[in-house]
Amino acid sequence: MTESDGILVQTEELTMRYGSVTALENIDVLVRSGELVALVGPTGSGKTSLLSLLAGLETPDSGSVTLLGQQLDSLSEDAMADLRGRAVGMVYQSINLFSGFTVRDNLGLPLRLMVRPPFDAHLRSRELLNQFDLVGLAERFPAELSGGQRQLVAIARALAARPPLILADEPTANLDSAASRRITAQLRGLADSGNHGVLMATHDLRIASQADRVISLRDGRVVKETVLKQGRTAREVLAELA
Ligand SMILES: Nc1ncnc2c1ncn2[C@@H]1O[C@H](COP(=O)(O)OP(=O)(O)O)[C@@H](O)[C@H]1O
Ligand SMILES: [Mg+2]
Repeated sequence: MTESDGILVQTEELTMRYGSVTALENIDVLVRSGELVALVGPTGSGKTSLLSLLAGLETPDSGSVTLLGQQLDSLSEDAMADLRGRAVGMVYQSINLFSGFTVRDNLGLPLRLMVRPPFDAHLRSRELLNQFDLVGLAERFPAELSGGQRQLVAIARALAARPPLILADEPTANLDSAASRRITAQLRGLADSGNHGVLMATHDLRIASQADRVISLRDGRVVKETVLKQGRTAREVLAELA
């Protein structure tokens, strides 16, 4: 695999257990730069476990994850942390902003926490405020924002180190439908920029219908993979995903 394939992350026969529970079994998936991929499946189907493995936050029982051309099980802890910091931006279901910090400082913190930050935190947070139209909210604290605004800040923060791969775990859970559409449009836009590949777990098929490709998980296995052609109605897409 070379970077020129545009493949950001790829798994091979990935299996993961929690004690006697098999959370994932023989998973082969990949995400390329420029695509938005939805990961769908009911609660307990393994979405969060898969995202954790792709980010190198958990270790599989067997199989492999290759992130930016590097097989994770061959890396030292330090090399892994370094790669994760450069390669992956995470957006969580329950928005995990730092409550004691303003929007501006939340955006700069990931870089300040890095041993070798690739960018100046001050400049980068200013860029992100502009890019995500958050300038007017820069000095607010997370508690002073709506759910949709908070999730937008979380996405902006995930981009601080300009990671090519964005992993979003049910980013629209707990948002109303208008805010969900805006957040999904932001993730769609990141993929369309060509600078990022986005894998988004969701159990909302309307949200999933915005993706280029939908991977359906059930009981820890990929049961279906659907390539969605753009320009079809939501109704047509939903019929295909059902
Ligand atoms: N920390 C854990 N300890 C034990 N079992 C877990 C843990 N996390 C997840 N599981 C189990 O692994 C399976 C997949 O869970 P998860 O990846 O969270 O699915 P999803 O995100 O699709 O809801 C489920 O059966 C779940 O109960
Ligand atoms: Mg989950």
